[in-house]
Amino acid sequence: MNELSLLNKLSEISIQLSYEKDVDKLLQLILESCIEITGSDAGSIYTVEENQLHFEYTVNHSVDFPSKKFSMPVSSDSISGNCVLNKTTYNLTSMEDTQALFGITHNRSFDESIGYKTINMLVIPMENFKGEVIGVLQLINKKDDADVIITSDSDLDLPEYTALDEQITNSLASQAAILLERTRLQQDLTNLLDSMISTLSTALDQRDPITAGHSKRVAELSIELAKAINDDQGLYKDVLFDEDALKELHISALLHDVGKIGVPESILQKQNKLTDEKINEIVSRFYLIAEILHNRNEETHYFGEHLDHTIEHLIRISKTNFLADEDKAFLNDLRNHPNVDYKNVTIEVLHEHEYNSLMIQKGNLTVEERNQIQKHANYSKDILENINWGKKLSNVPKLAASHHEKLNGKGYPFGLDESRLSLIERIMPIIDIYDALTATDRPYKPAMSKEKACAILGYEVENGSLDKHLVELFKKQVVGLREEEHAS
Ligand SMILES: [Fe+2]
Ligand SMILES: [Fe+2]
Repeated sequence: MNELSLLNKLSEISIQLSYEKDVDKLLQLILESCIEITGSDAGSIYTVEENQLHFEYTVNHSVDFPSKKFSMPVSSDSISGNCVLNKTTYNLTSMEDTQALFGITHNRSFDESIGYKTINMLVIPMENFKGEVIGVLQLINKKDDADVIITSDSDLDLPEYTALDEQITNSLASQAAILLERTRLQQDLTNLLDSMISTLSTALDQRDPITAGHSKRVAELSIELAKAINDDQGLYKDVLFDEDALKELHISALLHDVGKIGVPESILQKQNKLTDEKINEIVSRFYLIAEILHNRNEETHYFGEHLDHTIEHLIRISKTNFLADEDKAFLNDLRNHPNVDYKNVTIEVLHEHEYNSLMIQKGNLTVEERNQIQKHANYSKDILENINWGKKLSNVPKLAASHHEKLNGKGYPFGLDESRLSLIERIMPIIDIYDALTATDRPYKPAMSKEKACAILGYEVENGSLDKHLVELFKKQVVGLREEEHAS
């Protein structure tokens, strides 16, 4: 390699090294680059952690053999161990040198087991910016001719590693060591962030048995749908969510309901229109009223011989999800029932807030309670905006908060319509509904079949809430429904 091509090669390697974000790939790249630049036949790279040498990766241009990772203590019994302990580069022109240098005999059993022969070796310590050795590079058998094959029987006169080889590999090794340390630190930070996010998400979901596991499932299914978009060769053939976009979606999905922390549990976990305590209070009141009226010979329809029916009807209404006309008439009668005066106290049969709760037409939440629950999406945004997500994850707060948006603009918290909802923002609204319907961990409600849940997604498409093509892709590629099932 002449000087100019060497210089070009070095700057090329430098750039490649600085772009590599994966520790394993970085190690491979360091080794392969040093082998190429020195014209070596083989080489190995070790990392050093807690006084252990970890064999990471090996390359051999002459023989093929399965390589396994292994570890050994850093000690003066091995060539690499000496390199770590003495922080020194060793240029072994012959393997006999080990006797004079370290007082050890080079162990040839590995070479013999793979049919190879180590003739000379350059051993380089990889030092980080603190001067600690965090890895060792072994370059083996420098060759003039790249085509030469070395075997255990080879009796070759190989060139020695030069001072320039030492210089170049030393500078590459120290650059590599710094990058390796930086990459490890980044990976540690990423792992820390990931584990904190998933722990937080699990803890939040577990506050409520109804939602245990919900966020994790929403995250997994959202990623599956995003990957299905990436793989699609039809409508989405030009769309590709890169690693950063997928990560942003994953984190947003794990934390999409974080805002529920700002909604009282009594509302989040509300199962009936009135709590059991409230029902008990009303029942006691009704018995008292019946008793008073009975003593006065003033019994009325609801508080006479029909008292048991009155109480049963009231409990049934509290549990129902849909209010019938006869229920409304019953509640109006109770609300309009004359107050009962007793020992200077006026007893109101049904208080206004009780009446309002029982008069809920659909579901069991009052308008005020529904508003409070819906605010969780806003709270998610507020909470997540307090975190510095950096450039690559900057959309997490908005993406997470948009999981109840609808294409027709009737969603919350922003009421964004089709023109303002990006493709990635249309994913979670589908998954959130699907998981709520199919979740098996609801204590009082059996899980819905995936076919039925998909049919409901179909209605949501028809009423303009969800993206038609995305729902189709979800049914086919993620849920795995057959054509005839998801066509309906
Ligand atoms: Fe939500
Ligand atoms: Fe959710």
